[in-house]
Amino acid sequence: MDKFKVVGGTPLYGELPVSGSKNSALPALAACLLTEEPVTLLRIPQVKDIGTMESLLSHTGAAVNNQDGSVTVEARHLDCPEAPYDVVKTMRASSLVLGPLVARTGRARVSMPGGCAIGARPINLHVQALEHLGACIEQSHGYVEATAPDGLRGGEIHFDRITVTGTEDVLMAAVLARGETTITNAAREPEVQDLADLLTKMGAKIEGAGSSVIKITGVERLSGAEHAIIPDRIEAGTFLLAGAMSQGEVMVSNCTPEHVAALTVKMRQAGADVDDAGDAIRVRCNRRPRSVDVTTEEYPGFATDLQAQYLAWMTVAQGISFITETIFENRFMHAPELSRMGANIRIEGRQAIVAGEERLTGAQVIASDLRASASLVLAALVAQGESTIHRVYHMDRGYERIEEKLAAVGGRIQRIP
Ligand code: EPU
Repeated sequence: MDKFKVVGGTPLYGELPVSGSKNSALPALAACLLTEEPVTLLRIPQVKDIGTMESLLSHTGAAVNNQDGSVTVEARHLDCPEAPYDVVKTMRASSLVLGPLVARTGRARVSMPGGCAIGARPINLHVQALEHLGACIEQSHGYVEATAPDGLRGGEIHFDRITVTGTEDVLMAAVLARGETTITNAAREPEVQDLADLLTKMGAKIEGAGSSVIKITGVERLSGAEHAIIPDRIEAGTFLLAGAMSQGEVMVSNCTPEHVAALTVKMRQAGADVDDAGDAIRVRCNRRPRSVDVTTEEYPGFATDLQAQYLAWMTVAQGISFITETIFENRFMHAPELSRMGANIRIEGRQAIVAGEERLTGAQVIASDLRASASLVLAALVAQGESTIHRVYHMDRGYERIEEKLAAVGGRIQRIP
């Protein structure tokens, strides 16, 4: 298992380019199953979860060709419309193939994801919504089996709770259903909008994506298309925090400033200079931040996927901050590891109370999930002395060559195989 060795204390200076969004690329790849024609996706990040999704598409019978992040999928014959346990257990987003497979082939068999480090993560809302579209669903032996031999039909879907991949799964099913579908309380994340843009290029009829009400008029078939994935707003946010926390100055390039507005507002309040510059953001901070509270929310609120990295910054702030996590029930696994580096954090239910310290000290720490690993890297980059971060395979699931990007702006970080 690879680990990172990091020597802290060097401010970061220079440009940090952002890759394509992992959480946009995953549903886009699943959407390729909706047509027998080739779909080409550009700016696909080369991270582990993408490799897993590509293997899953191949397993169903699709031909997948990835040339340096430009991926063409041709799903002419789908002989095996299933997502087996071995794939789903390593990546919960595999449930994104449920909607497209049942819509296209009339059947799908997808292993149910278990819990993971950050929470229970059920898919009951995906299942209920597909039932509304006429799929017959049975759950046994750890699998969800959906059938719709005569195809799906449009319906009124209201999500009791906002779900990102749930909205995406059902959107993909509804584009091939007969008649009209309305989704209310839909997720408004930019990744949902990006998926709708791709589906529209493929011939789907969708209105309102990016708002909480999406209307879809089903079409008989979809065609091939070419589409470039949006920049990864979570990677962009992670880099902004890295620049500010290191007390340096970085230009985060190839990003969409609007997508990280909830973060940059907080960063300005905490004392960082943050300037939008078209498709880039410049951040500069030459002092400890002031403590500023955040509460995670669905988009356009403060992203749960940036909570761990923001919390890392607050461990060196002046004052006490309250960080409240409302999306996942167990997303403070980074707190005890940050405490090993000298952070002063108390967890009370869904809230972390962080008393800023003047400095952190390097230590051996273990990454528990993707975003927790990023928070440990940020902390290690400013801690006094050397840190070793174990289990960086979590990081490799979603960040493309992060150690190379950070080293290029002066970070003393090295991968040890
Ligand atoms: N939920 C249910 N039932 C469902 C679906 C969700 O109760 O059927 C609950 C979840 O347990 C959670 C809440 O609803 O408490 C929201 O979960 P959501 O479904 O929105 O999460 P997701 O779609 O599984 C995506 C991202 C996550 C990100 C969340 C929240 C992808 C592939 N994953 O997950 O990204 O944290 O939305 O924004 O898009 C990450 O990249 O590190 C990551 C975990």
